[in-house]
Amino acid sequence: MSSLGYFQILVFLYAFLVFSAESRKTQLQNNNYDTESSEDGAKGTRWAVLIAGSKEFYNYRHQADICHAYQILRKGGLKDENIIVFMYDDIAFSPENPRPGVIINRPDGDDVYNGVLKDYTGEAVNVKNFLNVILGNESGVTGGSGRVLKSGPHDHVFIYYADHGAPGLLGMPDDEDILLAKDFIQVLEKMHQHKRYKKMVIYVEACEAGSMFEGLLKKNLNILAVTASNANESSYGTYCGVTYPPPPPEYDGNCLGDAFSVSWLEDSDLHDMSKETLKQQYQVVRRRIGSDAESEMRSHVSRFGTEELLKDYLVSYIGTNPENENFTSNGFISSPMFNSSLVNTRDIPLLYLKKKIEKSPMDSPQRQEAQKKLLDEINHRKQIDESITEILRLSIKQNNVLNLLTSTRSTGKALVDDWDCFKTMITSFQKYCGAKVDYGLKYTRALANICNMGVDMKQTVSAIEQACSIK
Ligand SMILES: *[C@@H]1O[C@H](CO)[C@@H](O)[C@H](O)[C@H]1NC(C)=O
Ligand SMILES: *[C@@H]1O[C@H](CO)[C@@H](O)[C@H](O)[C@H]1NC(C)=O
Ligand SMILES: *[C@@H]1O[C@H](CO)[C@@H](O)[C@H](O)[C@H]1NC(C)=O
Ligand SMILES: *[C@@H]1O[C@H](CO)[C@@H](O)[C@H](O)[C@H]1NC(C)=O
Repeated sequence: MSSLGYFQILVFLYAFLVFSAESRKTQLQNNNYDTESSEDGAKGTRWAVLIAGSKEFYNYRHQADICHAYQILRKGGLKDENIIVFMYDDIAFSPENPRPGVIINRPDGDDVYNGVLKDYTGEAVNVKNFLNVILGNESGVTGGSGRVLKSGPHDHVFIYYADHGAPGLLGMPDDEDILLAKDFIQVLEKMHQHKRYKKMVIYVEACEAGSMFEGLLKKNLNILAVTASNANESSYGTYCGVTYPPPPPEYDGNCLGDAFSVSWLEDSDLHDMSKETLKQQYQVVRRRIGSDAESEMRSHVSRFGTEELLKDYLVSYIGTNPENENFTSNGFISSPMFNSSLVNTRDIPLLYLKKKIEKSPMDSPQRQEAQKKLLDEINHRKQIDESITEILRLSIKQNNVLNLLTSTRSTGKALVDDWDCFKTMITSFQKYCGAKVDYGLKYTRALANICNMGVDMKQTVSAIEQACSIK
């Protein structure tokens, strides 16, 4: 009996030693991702593509998020030759920028613009370039540095996209240029087929970001996508003039960051990424933006694709800053944001203009210009709101159309089946109604629902034309 007890202890000790050696090994591998062999003996490299899909000063936050991410990757040990950045680059030196040449991503934050590599700027920030860059197709790229992902079968790829979105799409600086979920997914599948990565992590900050993947991203591609919002809700800006903590007053009420983005970025700034898994960060971010709170004012951070990747340490995608080695915890970044810290992304342009009017001297040309812009924007939105119901009425020849505006398909089903129909609708909605990604395109779900009902496409296009030319 006693010898058996002794034997058991020995077995236990042995198991314990093997286990610690294994976990030490994993940790070492993760720490030295660039130099250490992966399990099949081949060397892997970390690659990243960062993209801010908007322009203009009131969209400050997207480029701020992207620049901040760049700084994290660099401090984390990724090399410039493995990072590709898309940003319009009209913020740092905008005449509206109170700190010329500087971009910050939080009220007391450091400059995140300094040193950022800019591969694709201005009009080179577009769908065609983005898709060809991730595909590694040099001949498909126009303008910019011409650099593309040169990743291979042993590499990890990290893609981070910050922009406006709408059901089924993400925006680009040119309003007519949109990234349709279906096209993005097709390119990801091609990358998988051509063995352009071993594992891939995609973070998306946008309204209805979940609709880019829901029912579309297959689970067997070794891709994990984490989105700021689910398929049917807005995302939120933060560090805005109306929120707490506010940005410095000279920022006129603009938002310095996005809630989901600053949550993962600030978490990555502080912690040792060789000890934090993707799952842990997912939970930190959900807690910080209050995804589980019973509030309409919160978005639900969501994930899609290959769940096994959640076990991976972040270091093997975004690196880790050696200075964070001994960091333990920080209450600020793990406690939920206040309601008053969040602004619905679609309200930001209006708030920005209102604040501008408040701050400009009476009768000044700036004030008049801002007043006119605000009025135009409010009228435009009202018109879009009215047109969409009219479009639905004319297409399905019924008056009761409200359910088409809000009805969503069951979880796990893509927004639409006939993407050609969807694309045609969107193009017409843009062309005839002037729908833009930061407001009007929020109604694309209704257009998708019409496609799903099998309504004749020509009939709907003429409904769109008719509804919007009445005005
Ligand atoms: C690369 O881009 C060019 C130009 O758009 C296109 O013709 C070609 O098919 C692309 N190649 C691949 C492998 O996608
Ligand atoms: C929105 O989508 C989520 C899943 O993505 C679902 O649980 C929820 O019920 C949907 N909400 C509405 C109002 O359809
Ligand atoms: C946040 O707002 C929601 C209503 O949108 C409310 O139910 C909730 O109590 C608020 N939370 C806090 C902490 O103020
Ligand atoms: C972390 O702590 C260890 C042990 O005290 C120390 O050797 C190391 O230099 C510390 N690292 C940093 C970045 O401060």
